[in-house]
Amino acid sequence: MDDDRGPGGDAGPPIVPRGDGSRFLNDGPTAHPIHVRTFARRPPPGFRIFAVRRYLPPMPTFRFTTAGESHGPALVAVVEGLPAGLPVNTDEIDRELRRRQGGYGRGGRMRIESDRAEVLSGVRHGETLGSPITLLVRNRDWANWTDAMSPAPHDAQGDDEAMRRVFFPRPGHADLVGALKYDRGDARDVLERASARETTMRVAAGALAKQLLAQLGIRVGSHVASIGGIVADVPDVLPADLNAAADPSPVRCLDPVAEGRMIDAIDQAKRDGDTLGGVVEVVAHGVPAGLGSHVSWDRKLDGRLAQALMSIQAIKGVEVGLGVEAALRPGSRVHDAINRDDPSGRGGGFGRVGNHAGGLEGGITTGQPLVCRAAMKPISTLMTPLGTVDLRTGAPAEAVRERSDVCAVPAAGVVAEAMVAMVLADAVLEKFGGDSMAELGRSFDAYLEQIRARGAFPGGGD
Ligand SMILES: Cc1cc2nc3c(=O)[nH]c(=O)nc-3n(C[C@H](O)[C@H](O)[C@H](O)COP(=O)(O)O)c2cc1C
Repeated sequence: MDDDRGPGGDAGPPIVPRGDGSRFLNDGPTAHPIHVRTFARRPPPGFRIFAVRRYLPPMPTFRFTTAGESHGPALVAVVEGLPAGLPVNTDEIDRELRRRQGGYGRGGRMRIESDRAEVLSGVRHGETLGSPITLLVRNRDWANWTDAMSPAPHDAQGDDEAMRRVFFPRPGHADLVGALKYDRGDARDVLERASARETTMRVAAGALAKQLLAQLGIRVGSHVASIGGIVADVPDVLPADLNAAADPSPVRCLDPVAEGRMIDAIDQAKRDGDTLGGVVEVVAHGVPAGLGSHVSWDRKLDGRLAQALMSIQAIKGVEVGLGVEAALRPGSRVHDAINRDDPSGRGGGFGRVGNHAGGLEGGITTGQPLVCRAAMKPISTLMTPLGTVDLRTGAPAEAVRERSDVCAVPAAGVVAEAMVAMVLADAVLEKFGGDSMAELGRSFDAYLEQIRARGAFPGGGD
């Protein structure tokens, strides 16, 4: 691509970019590198616009990235933005990883792996340093894939079986579109990264976010609301420790009757060579009113949560509070009347009758529990495969049968918790900031004082 042509790409004097073409346009704590095209000599007449080369979303305060292939040697996550002085419990990270690996309906891979996070940077003597934290989880299965996944060059011809090449893309997976987009002949090059094995590192990074939130009295949990169309009967008031109630269930469901039916449905799907999806609900307790913002589209917390949850492999729908159901009811049966009942002390002395809003109004938290749901489609690897096309010849074929889960909805709930925790950690750090936990804590406490003062009306306000 000729990236250095002027607008319209027409002739005219060549434009020579200087250096890497980037510089900082502001110096504040959230300064972003703005890529501005600069010119070694005068621009042509009429060329007045400095072309901004890329759109710049606000830089998140808590940020993470993951790397690694499903059958490579290891997966890693780099987490940035946590203040110094956060106590880090690595057993707790491993506990979260075990929760992700569990759940009725998982495939053989989860019996091979027993994930453990190694901390390579950013933590010393049990506390964060404020520097980037690197987490690493080794793939035990790598021992069986050293040739097939070797980074060393390999003759493209022959050895298809030993190299575990994939030519029969699965409908519903990234195999075909990824092979087209990245121009790969072997869909293995795509599926290794598209695989939800990547969610291991989301959960590890999310465990750090949860540890930050716990210091501020915010707790994130989840449960499975439905699998394969079997819908759990969920109590109006969820248990305060949601995970303690959901985790003992093999499908992480709070309704024992539905639990039995879900297990039967998963068994039946397995016998049929089929797969099942479902819905998970994530709930965060202790979230103070005032996270997120109404002022710009990209600062709205509901939008940020939706993006984070939709980015999870196989999640195809996200709801906040009543969600789609709200569109079917009149306003009088949707909106939560305001009162002064604020037992958690996180609503600034204001409370609500009900929580149809799921703890969010105007993209800002209300102080009520934050409630999001994510809908997962059925796993796309079918043991009774759907039709596909051979990538080499174009001939009709059956999709590849890669070792796979029958149902991963319980695990998806754990991943969804991690994503919600990271969005909340980002929103907390954005609002309260601080390079150290002490600084963050002071700012958080002062803010709670401030909103409580708003709700403490002189004379009681009656
Ligand atoms: C926890 C979890 C486990 C998953 N396990 C599998 C699996 O074993 N086999 C499979 O084909 N897809 C699995 N998926 C879904 C695929 O990764 C996903 O469908 C694929 O990457 C394509 O992305 P998309 O469904 O978002 O379009 C899993 C997803 C999650 C969240």
